[in-house]
Amino acid sequence: MEVATAETPFHAVIVTIFPELIEAVASVGVFGRAVERGLVRLETINPRAYTEDRHQTVDGKAYGGGPGMVMKVGPLRAALEEARRRCPEAKVIYLSPQGAPFAQQKAEACAVQGQVILLAGRYEGIDQRLIDRDVDEQWSLGDYVLSGGEMPALVVLDAVARLRPGVLGDEGSAEAESFSAGLLDFPHYTRPEEIDGQRVPEVLLSGDHGAIAAWRQAQAEAVTRRQRPDLWARWQEQQQRAEKRNGGSGDGSHE
Ligand SMILES: C[S@@+](CC[C@H](N)C(=O)[O-])C[C@H]1O[C@@H](n2cnc3c(N)ncnc32)[C@H](O)[C@@H]1O
Repeated sequence: MEVATAETPFHAVIVTIFPELIEAVASVGVFGRAVERGLVRLETINPRAYTEDRHQTVDGKAYGGGPGMVMKVGPLRAALEEARRRCPEAKVIYLSPQGAPFAQQKAEACAVQGQVILLAGRYEGIDQRLIDRDVDEQWSLGDYVLSGGEMPALVVLDAVARLRPGVLGDEGSAEAESFSAGLLDFPHYTRPEEIDGQRVPEVLLSGDHGAIAAWRQAQAEAVTRRQRPDLWARWQEQQQRAEKRNGGSGDGSHE
């Protein structure tokens, strides 16, 4: 049995009828370099390879009528069996609008787990019997409907890979990003110091690391309060709980 550690590559298997879509996107940028450097092992399995008819049919009409086609159990179940053989410790995740919202905590858990099998649907979706028996969890990318699960699968993979050791150049990068500490990211600036009358905030030019860290923290809090009141409320609760645990007053001093 392969035991996932920080040293073993993150292993992902995507079950999809459009492997070329995954391969094209997954070969560029941070993710592409992670694959090249052996930090991520990415495989695709096409359920069409598990069909027996000339047309390699993976879909059928819906019982009960209605528009659109439904993905059949047979080829998907066989493809998932092969995926589980390659990735025995992995959960099978079906990307679906009916799933629980995908968020940073799920990405973190997945990065620690070290393996994942992602199932991308097409057409009207997948025969419920496959979901009932072969899927461990369903994750949604948001309250909208896409044409297929490949782009959601790529989003999940990208979010997870960034959290794996060695994938980002600077190990601190992932920790400093939005959501990791419960707040959104602070604003970033690069050269020149002034452009079209817009100046970089003076504190960032001061060289005073304490003042810069305090400014960034205040900005992260302000951005979160303004853009995401839901995250802000949760973060304040966390702070209050931490203050109570540490014997503080827990009086919401971050307001
Ligand atoms: C056209 S959609 C099916 C939509 C389905 N009939 C419904 O109304 O919920 C085809 C496939 O795209 C993927 N998909 C679409 N929207 C998604 C979302 N918001 N999150 C994750 N996957 C999604 C799923 O894999 C789904 O099986």
